[in-house]
Order: sequence, then structure tokens, then C-alpha cells
Amino acid sequence: MKLWQNPPAAVAPPDPLTERIEQFTAGADPILDLELLPWDGLASKAHARMLAKVGLLSQEEAAALIAGLDGILALHRRGEFTISRADEDGHTAIENHLVQRCGEAGLKIHTGRSRNDQVLTALRLYSKERTSACTAALQGIIAALEALIAAQGAVLLPGYTHTRKAMPSSVGMWAGAWRDAFAEDLDLLGHAAGLIDQNPLGTGAGYGVPLPLDREMTTAELGFARVLYNPIHAQNSRGKYEGILLHALAVALADINRMASDLILFTMPGFDYFTLPGVFMTGSSIMPQKKNPDVLELLRARYHEVAACEAQLRTATVNLISGYHRDLQSTKEALMRGLGTALETLEMAALVVQNLRVNEEACRSAMTDELYATADAYELVQQGVPFREAYRIIAARFRQEQKND
Ligand code: ARG
Repeated sequence: MKLWQNPPAAVAPPDPLTERIEQFTAGADPILDLELLPWDGLASKAHARMLAKVGLLSQEEAAALIAGLDGILALHRRGEFTISRADEDGHTAIENHLVQRCGEAGLKIHTGRSRNDQVLTALRLYSKERTSACTAALQGIIAALEALIAAQGAVLLPGYTHTRKAMPSSVGMWAGAWRDAFAEDLDLLGHAAGLIDQNPLGTGAGYGVPLPLDREMTTAELGFARVLYNPIHAQNSRGKYEGILLHALAVALADINRMASDLILFTMPGFDYFTLPGVFMTGSSIMPQKKNPDVLELLRARYHEVAACEAQLRTATVNLISGYHRDLQSTKEALMRGLGTALETLEMAALVVQNLRVNEEACRSAMTDELYATADAYELVQQGVPFREAYRIIAARFRQEQKND
């Protein structure tokens, strides 16, 4: 039964129009809210404790609600908690369950909150957890790059411009470039993480609650860094913060995308500067000889998926007047999909870098003379030859060599 059914409806026979509208409005919520349920449960427990502290619930009522919520969480862990389409969403399913289980106390759980701040709180807690997993994965990539630099950083490698040999580079210069990039991404992600680390619980529908709620208490209980104070801003932050978070992750995935392109080239037969264990390669259904870099290609592709989720979040909220609108529900799927894809990608990228092997012999034989052409010109410059003249002398030497080949 929906929370807003007033008076509470008798069990109505299902009619096709109602069902279609329920399906349309609930969308993917019954599935997505199941994933959010542990966070909704956690926030509901903190809310019940806070209501008891400020005297809006008795200690017994709070204890009954917390036991009820623990029961829901246990059911969920066993995969037995369900959210029906007629319930609309997880918040409703939780309240209906508590009413069934805790009677009178269940009717009080929604005191001082709205589904608008409830969903925001659950999403922020969920995002915080995913963001710290993404942070750990990024740190894992950086650590793996640093290990590579320490072990084989001095190995020379051709540097490329326009996908043509240009100047000498090294494993250390290449891996260091990505280490620096990911360190910046980590910094950016830290800023986004700071934004979502603010507690919206207690902002109600978006205009505060005329009750003496202790928002500091739920902030501490839920482990948020601070209260997200202004209730209108709290609602307006839905989608905005999530977009910023996915932007930071999309930036990291853009770096993974380009690093994967480097690795596709550097592991290509004929290049062989790096190798990856066979388990990272896939075969062809028709060409028996093929070992394809599908993992690297998919690392590259994932950027586009997350960038699309980011774009959806970014555009979902523009033009909305302040406050809650059901449009905001559409940010949920993009956020959850984007976070999941980003996390999986970052973790796989860390595994790739950890398993990268440098083929020193292939690197050495790739360090052909033309890579030193610029250095040769500069040697003449150091002997007093003007740069453009030195450039022409070396260019002529290379032309001559090519003719002789
Ligand atoms: N499923 C809704 C969402 O994600 C929950 C909030 C519903 N609030 C409302 N006023 N209808 O936005």
C-alpha cells in the first residue's frame, strides 16, 4: 500500500490502468531500492534513535523499530525482502513492514521525515561507500604504477607523436605520467567525496520540519562529516552532487581510456614492449592464432558509459524549479550504474597495471636511431650551430640514410 493513500485503501482488485501507471511511476525503483535498502535501513535506525532522544518516540517504541529494521536487514541479507510495484519504492516497503511488525510504533517511523530526504540520505550513504571503494582502487593503480617505476623505470621506450616514433621515453616516464594523472584524479574525487559527505536527513520534503530534530546526532551516527543545512539546497543538490561525483570518476576513466590505448599499442605483436598474462587476453572464434586485448578495449569503452551517466545526471536537473520533483527519481539509475561501472573499471585497471610485464629486449631493439635525431641536432647546437641549421644537417643525414636503405 502506498504511503499517500488517504484514507488507506481497502485491498482493491488490480485494474490494468492502475497497474500500468504504477509500472510507469515506479520504474526501476523496486529493483534499485533493494540495493539501497541497507542504507535506508541504517538511516532509519539513526532516525528512530534520534526521535527517541528528542522525545518524539518512547524508548520502547524506538527499540521496537530498531528491532524491526534489523529484521528487515536480515531478511534482505537472505534475499527475502521484496519491494512490490504497488509499494512504489523501498521507503514504503520498509514502513509497511514496520507497521505490520511493530504496530503503533511503525506508524511513527515517518515522523519528521519525508521520502525526499530519506532517498537522498540513502543515496548519499551508498555513494559514500562506493566512492571510498573507487578511491581505494585508484590508490591501487597508483601503487602499481609506482612499483613498475621502481622495478623497471629506467628501461628505455620509444616515445610517440602522431603514432610515429618521436623521441626517447622510458618506462618510468610513461608510468610516471599516468601516476601523476591518477593522483590528480584522486584529488578531484576527494572534492566530490567531500560534497556528498553532508547529511540531508531532517530536511524533510525540502522545507525543514517543524519539530526539534537533532540533526547533529544523525550526522554523527551515520558518519557524515557535517549537516547539509539548508533544506531547499539539500533537494537542489540531488543530481548536482551526483553529477560532480560521476564527473570526477569520468575524468579518471578518461585517463584509463588513454592508458588502455597506450597498452593496446605497446602489447601489440611487433611492439611487445609490455606483455600481459594470457588470462587478460581472449581468442577468436574463427582465427586460431588470435590473442585479443579485449580487457584493454573494454577498459577504454567504459569511459563512454560513465560519461553518458554523467551527462544524464548533469542534464536531469536543469530547468527544474527549486525543490523536489519526481524527475529526480531518474537520477538514481544513472548514479548507481555510473558508480558501479566506474568501480569495476578502476579495479580492473589496477589488476592490469599490477600484471604488466616489461619486455626489456623488445624495448631495447625498438630504440632505433631516428629517436635520437632531435638529440643529435641539440648536440650540434651545443657546439655553436644555430638550431635551424642543425635541424637541416640532421634531416639531410636521415634522408641520406633512408636513400641508402
Ligand atoms: N522514488 C522516489 C525518488 O527516488 C522517492 C521519493 C518520492 N517522493 C515523492 N514526493 N514522490 O525520488
